[in-house]
Amino acid sequence: MDNTTATDQDLDPANMLKWYIECGVDECISENETNWFDEASEIQVIQKVSTTSSSEKKPISRPVSKAPLVSNKEIISNAEKLVAQCTSLEALNEAILSFEDCSLKNTASNTVYCDGNPQSDIMVIGEAPGVDEDRDGKPFIGECGQLLNKMFAAINMTRENDFYITNLVPWRPPGNRKPTSAECDICLPFLKRHIELFNPKMIILVGGTSANALLDNNIGITKLRGKWQEYEMDGKQIPIVSILHPEYLIRQPNCKKQTWHDLLSIKERIGTLEK
Ligand code: URA
Repeated sequence: MDNTTATDQDLDPANMLKWYIECGVDECISENETNWFDEASEIQVIQKVSTTSSSEKKPISRPVSKAPLVSNKEIISNAEKLVAQCTSLEALNEAILSFEDCSLKNTASNTVYCDGNPQSDIMVIGEAPGVDEDRDGKPFIGECGQLLNKMFAAINMTRENDFYITNLVPWRPPGNRKPTSAECDICLPFLKRHIELFNPKMIILVGGTSANALLDNNIGITKLRGKWQEYEMDGKQIPIVSILHPEYLIRQPNCKKQTWHDLLSIKERIGTLEK
């Protein structure tokens, strides 16, 4: 009986590549090879890595086992302190660019902040950048973004004129996976401050991830969608509604009918907003 263990050299490179793709590996992030499996046992929680100025391109930073361990609670509290000092949308963008404690930033190519009309009354909030958004640094510009534009165009709204758009998470999760709840918790203080500084008259949440994070519930999006609620901010009640994510609609085109209802309801409600 052959009892030798297969090494990487014994394995067919084509099959290994297929397996990596299956695992969500879709880009090469370093020229030097690293055995992450060796290091994984030493890494328990996100660890502080040295900070660099926002303007310089950072080398890819990885958790270092000798760095002090920082709990998620502490990271969130630091994020809250950081955003409290921001008094403009530009300052908030700078603060996000300087923030190094969300590990998603290590693998993202860009920080994705916002697009659309900063003078509009409507704030649209998605989940996290995908591959196209990560490449170009703007939210909702890939296939989902194109469908989202068409959805709003159907109620005569364009992002250039009628709404402002951002995401809960400013960095692309590797392999386009969903952000974890810990990652959402870290990014939430930035989104909440973003809402305060933008000061919208209406908020539209795109998909369940941003809806659950901001409304602080775990209700499925198929139940949440189309139901108007109030988001309380500085003593004000802002109308807020969730819609199905365009990614979901691409997979489930039969749900476009429900989304059409939700869009009509949004259009009607916009007509009631004070100018
Ligand atoms: N999906 C999102 O939720 N946001 C983007 O920016 C792109 C895709």
